Amino acid sequence: MTDHDAKDLSLAAAGRLRVEWAEHSMPVLRQIRERFAKEQPLAGIRVGACLHVTTETAVLMTTLKAGGARVALCASNPLSTQDDVAAALVKEFDTPVFAQKGEDTARYYRHIQAVLAINPQITMDDGADLITTLHGAERQRLPGIIGGTEETTTGVIRLRAMERDGVLAYPIIAVNDADTKHLFDNRYGTGQSTIDGILRATNTLLAGKIIVVSGYGMCGRGVASRARGMGAQVVITEVDALRALEAVMEGYQVLPMSRAAEVGDLFVTVTGNTSVIRKEHFPRMKDGAILANSGHFNVEIDLEALGALSRSRRAVRPFVEEFVLPGDRRIYVLGEGRLINLAAAEGHPAAVMDMSFANQALSAEHLVKQGRALEKRVYGVPREIDREIARLKLASMDIQVDEMTPDQETYLSSWTHGT
Ligand code: ADE
Repeated sequence: MTDHDAKDLSLAAAGRLRVEWAEHSMPVLRQIRERFAKEQPLAGIRVGACLHVTTETAVLMTTLKAGGARVALCASNPLSTQDDVAAALVKEFDTPVFAQKGEDTARYYRHIQAVLAINPQITMDDGADLITTLHGAERQRLPGIIGGTEETTTGVIRLRAMERDGVLAYPIIAVNDADTKHLFDNRYGTGQSTIDGILRATNTLLAGKIIVVSGYGMCGRGVASRARGMGAQVVITEVDALRALEAVMEGYQVLPMSRAAEVGDLFVTVTGNTSVIRKEHFPRMKDGAILANSGHFNVEIDLEALGALSRSRRAVRPFVEEFVLPGDRRIYVLGEGRLINLAAAEGHPAAVMDMSFANQALSAEHLVKQGRALEKRVYGVPREIDREIARLKLASMDIQVDEMTPDQETYLSSWTHGT
């Protein structure tokens, strides 16, 4: 039996069915897998992956393996693992997985160590916990590494800080920054799955509610537009003037959190920053306010401060904790302040992860071909890869686009045509 720390292998058959379901909606990755099986671009390459252990991630793992890679997988968040998928990967797809939904921090890091124990040549991160561990206690494994990839905005920010501080020990491809990733996954994926997580946890009605969305990056835009689509009034909080202005022009009300705290029925943080909702905000909130986070780390809502202010706290439903403040005002926190779309729902739908993980697979192939010539820097996904994924996705949707005529090409490349 493959080495693993999955919770319950008896869930494997159910997990396999769900992986197959996801696969139907991942035509781009399926095509890449077919090519990988023929060409073996990852033959013998050890890939250490720290990603959310979901059905879509399972399809990525089978793609890398089809290309000849040896992979090991751990979770990139203690609450995002789908235990049936972990079991299926181990039992049905012969893939070492070290992940259990609800694992504590010590076990989470033990699982990262277990993945690093294969001495990966390529690392695949979502949030940069694998790579930062590798740059800390596990530095002896650095020399064998060709390069790494990073899935999410938060991870890319950490990696750019490592690059800036001169400590990054190998090249990274910022998958997040590909257009076929952040314009779709961050916006439509986070938009839909965040609402999905909130609804599964609470069954609350969004129509007529005031929803405060903190952060108007791609993820915030997605959440705001989906919430508005379901009849909520949306308030945006921002620290960036340009983004705030864009939100205003989109027709949202923009307020500082000190005022938004007083009007919101439901709060969603998607800033990637710490303590966005904090001590001074909780006492201003309405009785029954619901707080959720969809940013990568559980730092956006200051739960320690909320706990300290509260008279009591108790679980009232799965993924819903009630905090009672003096004066009997109740505040509900979803999914321990961890990303609600993966804690209480299934994360982004497969059709959008198709493009994100196509970027992962093709970036791994690119690293094997070119990684040894790259510097210890954070690179974007090569533009040809990004365009090829868009092309494949459109083709899978049976959508044709026009081609420029020779005349149009000449026009666009000339500077002599004017008024
Ligand atoms: N991040 C967000 N949604 C995800 C999913 N379904 N699988 C893997 N990573 C994700």
